[in-house]
Amino acid sequence: MKNFVVAIDGPAGSGKSSISKMICERLPFTHIDTGAMYRAVTLEALRRKIDVEDETQYSFVNDIEVVYKDGKVYLNGDDVSGLIRTTEVTNNASAVARVKIVREKMVDFQRGCRNYGNILMDGRDIGTVVFPDANLKIFLTATPEERALRRYKENKAAGMDVNYDTLLEEIKIRDFKDSTRKIAPLKQAEDAILIDTTNMTMDEVTNTIIEKINERLK
Ligand code: DC
Repeated sequence: MKNFVVAIDGPAGSGKSSISKMICERLPFTHIDTGAMYRAVTLEALRRKIDVEDETQYSFVNDIEVVYKDGKVYLNGDDVSGLIRTTEVTNNASAVARVKIVREKMVDFQRGCRNYGNILMDGRDIGTVVFPDANLKIFLTATPEERALRRYKENKAAGMDVNYDTLLEEIKIRDFKDSTRKIAPLKQAEDAILIDTTNMTMDEVTNTIIEKINERLK
């Protein structure tokens, strides 16, 4: 039997990563955070000081290896899981994720993760492009205001100096860039189940998805 694939897509701050982790603590699935892979390429682009808006400067992606394993992302063998969470990487990732050669390379790496066994992959185009044949597709949303508030609380708890209005503005910009790009834009797959998490707790969302997985596993 082929491995079971769960695809979770949705905009920035919809809770995809946290909820995916919670599900994988309770079910025998390996979580793969594809946003972390695009962030690793972004880190490399910034290190090389390329103009991220210039698509012709990305041939370096042919010389790098990005691996996501056991909750960590490796860039050419180095664990960069912490380094990819800076504001600079966050704010440049949408530009990098728009580039055709970057997406082709990441989609190859992501499809290779099918060997990990049962997988739960989160991102923007998992149900539409990476695994259109996924066994279960979920599309998570929440209002931009709620998503900005969640980021605000997360950053505050991590001791970062943050401003709610700035976060809201950044989320709106990323939504726009992610959903209007030419290749693999953020959109709900026709056969995905939509879950609006605005007024739900993390546990409620996690339980809802686990129920759906169990139904399909039967
Ligand atoms: O989910 P995140 O914030 O870590 O994602 C980082 C960036 O990568 C974000 O701009 C969207 C992009 N991305 C993408 O284009 N496709 C994916 N499958 C995952 C993330």
